Amino acid sequence: MKEKNAQYEAEVLHQKRLALENIKAQEEERKKIAVMIHDDIGNRLNILSLWLNNLDTQGDELIKKNIYGQMSSLIDAARGISHSLYPVNLESVGLVLYVEELIANLSHKINISMQVMHGYEKKDIFVEVQLYRIIQEFTTNVIKHSTATDLWIYMKDYAENMVIVISDNGQGFEYEEVEKGMGIKNIESRIKSMNATHKWKKTFLNKGSRLIIKIPKHNEFPNQNSPD
Ligand SMILES: Nc1ncnc2c1ncn2[C@@H]1O[C@H](COP(=O)(O)OP(=O)(O)OP(=O)(O)O)[C@@H](O)[C@H]1O
Ligand SMILES: [Mg+2]
Repeated sequence: MKEKNAQYEAEVLHQKRLALENIKAQEEERKKIAVMIHDDIGNRLNILSLWLNNLDTQGDELIKKNIYGQMSSLIDAARGISHSLYPVNLESVGLVLYVEELIANLSHKINISMQVMHGYEKKDIFVEVQLYRIIQEFTTNVIKHSTATDLWIYMKDYAENMVIVISDNGQGFEYEEVEKGMGIKNIESRIKSMNATHKWKKTFLNKGSRLIIKIPKHNEFPNQNSPD
């Protein structure tokens, strides 16, 4: 009895820690967004208002040009923030086309190729959002840490599950040894939210990194609203 009680208590404690970590992760994410809005949009709005203050005292054409310039970069900044908050058009466009857009946007930074195997079918919106986020986070890490030139995304449907593999040809990393930040934690909690399983691997004779995810197809998603 005593042993069972201790086990039960340990499990409860574990769950509490997980929940706490989750909340902390969300807080951290919100902080990032707040900083982005502050730096990207707030600062530019301040500059704009300075220009507006000067409107009747200085050369109008120059001021107009500056305001237009600021406006269009504000629009870009707002779009960037809203995309990083939520993949707004994903539901109507579908994961594959949406990832293609991401690939095009990043083409000046890294060469990404996506292979979608024959028979692949559009997934539940919850799964597609999670997969998009995971691809985005993995790609950010590759650009930030790996010095890779290429990144590959592979997706295939099997009868019982879907497999997605994301790999790069950078310097790779030892999963056990690196200090995990928001990126890896978020990737893993998203994988968990789909009841999926995963593996991190080194590739190419210890060069490059790879993430393999297997998502069960017949799945109820009880916590649909929690991760996003
Ligand atoms: N594709 C990769 N290639 C090489 N190293 C990687 C790669 N992905 C992750 N890492 C290593 O794993 C560490 C943890 O990654 P993680 O995304 O969790 O945190 P971060 O990128 O350092 O910070 P954050 O994502 O919170 O902004 C990184 O600091 C880096 O050392
Ligand atoms: Mg990261």
